[in-house]
Amino acid sequence: MKTVFCLLFLALFAASEAKIFSNCDLAKVLKVNGLAGYHGYSLANWMCMAYYESRYTTNASYDNGWSTDYGIFQINSYWWCNDGKTSGAVGGCSISCNSLMNDDITDDITCAKRVVRDPNGMGAWVAWNNYCKNKDVSSFISGCAL
Ligand SMILES: *[C@@H]1O[C@H](CO)[C@@H](O)[C@H](O)[C@H]1NC(C)=O
Repeated sequence: MKTVFCLLFLALFAASEAKIFSNCDLAKVLKVNGLAGYHGYSLANWMCMAYYESRYTTNASYDNGWSTDYGIFQINSYWWCNDGKTSGAVGGCSISCNSLMNDDITDDITCAKRVVRDPNGMGAWVAWNNYCKNKDVSSFISGCAL
């Protein structure tokens, strides 16, 4: 019995720490938090970017050797978040990178809004440039009740 409760606890704990969103669930959260049309980018563009950056995974991370990208939008530790190990980090979002890895993505969204307000706009995200820019991205929200 003890073991069962223990496993249940671990399962719940893991679930609260990391999550892979379904496309329509994520689209809803992004919309509620004001990303639809934010800085001129449609909700489908935000969805396309998040898909190719993290496959909608809240705890995705990628270490490129000199900095690391964190979370569903793969926010970078040199420019935006603080992971305590990136030399010369600028910290534009004044947030710890670790807090971008849990399933509460409201802070990720706040930081992404800051990123997209820079002159490059969504061009800050390489995956968006490569896979979403000037493409028909409507399929990323099609069939979602928004
Ligand atoms: C993300 O979370 C899942 C489930 O908790 C875990 O298996 C995986 O190792 C985590 N990935 C990272 C990069 O932390």
